[in-house]
Amino acid sequence: MYFPSLFLLLCVSLAQLSQEAVNGHGVKNKHTSGKGLLNLGFKSPLMHTKANLSDITNIKSSFEFRTLDPEGVLLYGDTQGGVEWFVLALRGGLPEMQIGKGDAIAIVTGGPRLNDGRWHQVQLRSEGRLVVLEVGGAPVLMVGLHSQHAVEHTMGQIRLSLGGLLVQELELFRPIQPQMDGCIRAGNWLNHNLTWETDLGEKGRLCLAEIQRGSFFPGTGLAAFNTSDFPVHQTNSSFITIEMEGPLAEWSGTALIILSSQYDPVLTITAQNRSKELKVLFHEHAVSVSEPLAKLSLSLSRYMVKIDLDNRIIRELYDDTHDWLARWHEGMVLAFGGVPENTNDIAADNGSGYLHGCVRQIRIQGREVDLDHALYKHSSVSSHSCPTSVGLLDP
Ligand SMILES: *[C@@H]1O[C@H](CO)[C@@H](O)[C@H](O)[C@H]1NC(C)=O
Ligand SMILES: *[C@@H]1O[C@H](CO)[C@@H](O)[C@H](O)[C@H]1NC(C)=O
Ligand SMILES: *[C@@H]1O[C@H](CO)[C@@H](O)[C@H](O)[C@H]1NC(C)=O
Ligand SMILES: *[C@@H]1O[C@H](CO)[C@@H](O)[C@H](O)[C@H]1NC(C)=O
Ligand SMILES: *[C@@H]1O[C@H](CO)[C@@H](O)[C@H](O)[C@H]1NC(C)=O
Ligand SMILES: *[C@@H]1O[C@H](CO)[C@@H](O)[C@H](O)[C@H]1NC(C)=O
Repeated sequence: MYFPSLFLLLCVSLAQLSQEAVNGHGVKNKHTSGKGLLNLGFKSPLMHTKANLSDITNIKSSFEFRTLDPEGVLLYGDTQGGVEWFVLALRGGLPEMQIGKGDAIAIVTGGPRLNDGRWHQVQLRSEGRLVVLEVGGAPVLMVGLHSQHAVEHTMGQIRLSLGGLLVQELELFRPIQPQMDGCIRAGNWLNHNLTWETDLGEKGRLCLAEIQRGSFFPGTGLAAFNTSDFPVHQTNSSFITIEMEGPLAEWSGTALIILSSQYDPVLTITAQNRSKELKVLFHEHAVSVSEPLAKLSLSLSRYMVKIDLDNRIIRELYDDTHDWLARWHEGMVLAFGGVPENTNDIAADNGSGYLHGCVRQIRIQGREVDLDHALYKHSSVSSHSCPTSVGLLDP
């Protein structure tokens, strides 16, 4: 029975990469075995490793974990190149474990909500055929999967990854959005020294000492959606609302831009922190507002866009050639935090006017928008955490 080892392994592996991941920014394709602090949010998966099953003896692993993100993958492990696999994830803020063996899959979700921005002690261990998850020292979830037909493997390799899956087309019991904006520290992994591989590139993301809810744009990248992914026609509403909350006066750069499917700018909102100004550009109309505070709201109706700031109507701009509802439905580009030049440039990070600032919340038709679901999000943008101060945790 080798699943136990797998899990443990998994758990194990995490810790090691952490420290060096932090220390190692600036290095490409870095090998690491750290036990320190690690930000999973930079890419998905962040790092991976493999080991010989025969080398794995200890079946207990632990780490501390902190996030405000409700959904994402912490740990993935498999053997036989993905025939048997294990995933530890969060869904709706709750821990979830899924195990697959051949065509059988088991899933369990529950326990305490972990996405509260506080550090949680997490332990994974194998008990016979079960994998047990402990949080804060108490067992909270168990999952097991036994197959009469499965062959027991004690040889071969186990692969592990953090912050994402290694098999992209993996058929989970319930699909999950893998990106996890969260930090891990104090890992203790299977008492085994593994070497992890990561290509953090120029700028891995650090873990902040304190975080608060929001999406942080550090001035180096943007997130873009296709408006047709927010189907407002179904609701039969006669207008579309887009709301952004922030400390608006602290933003600098492009907060929001709506572009045609050919990437021609239609409506642009930029912020200037020095003058504490917000500028709205729509065709030949330009509106400038000073001293914005907490909330920016746009209402798009058939031929009009209405701009509200802090629940005060600032301007209503008409254009009888512009049917917002029809165009929204057809699919425009809606970008937060910068101006994408074209489809290829988005992927090449070739945009401009990048935003610096914390966006507390983005809502479309009153529903919170999760940047992890964007068509494209630059790795520097943290989808679920903003700094409260500039302090970084000691690695
Ligand atoms: C796994 O075992 C093989 C030989 O059995 C060895 O060549 C290889 O280096 C081992 N890999 C690891 C990661 O220990
Ligand atoms: C892991 O590596 C460290 C330093 O390289 C070493 O001191 C330690 O004994 C190793 N532990 C195991 C279990 O191999
Ligand atoms: C939307 O409204 C129109 C008329 O206002 C109505 O005919 C249609 O049935 C409505 N559609 C839905 C999905 O409610
Ligand atoms: C404006 O934002 C920039 C970052 O884009 C920052 O360096 C600067 O200190 C800010 N200025 C003020 C007055 O807040
Ligand atoms: C947006 O979605 C629509 C409909 O799904 C599609 O036709 C269009 O090409 C998409 N636009 C972009 C920029 O991806
Ligand atoms: C984007 O790339 C094009 C060439 O592909 C270049 O001409 C343009 O200057 C780039 N824009 C920015 C903002 O870097």
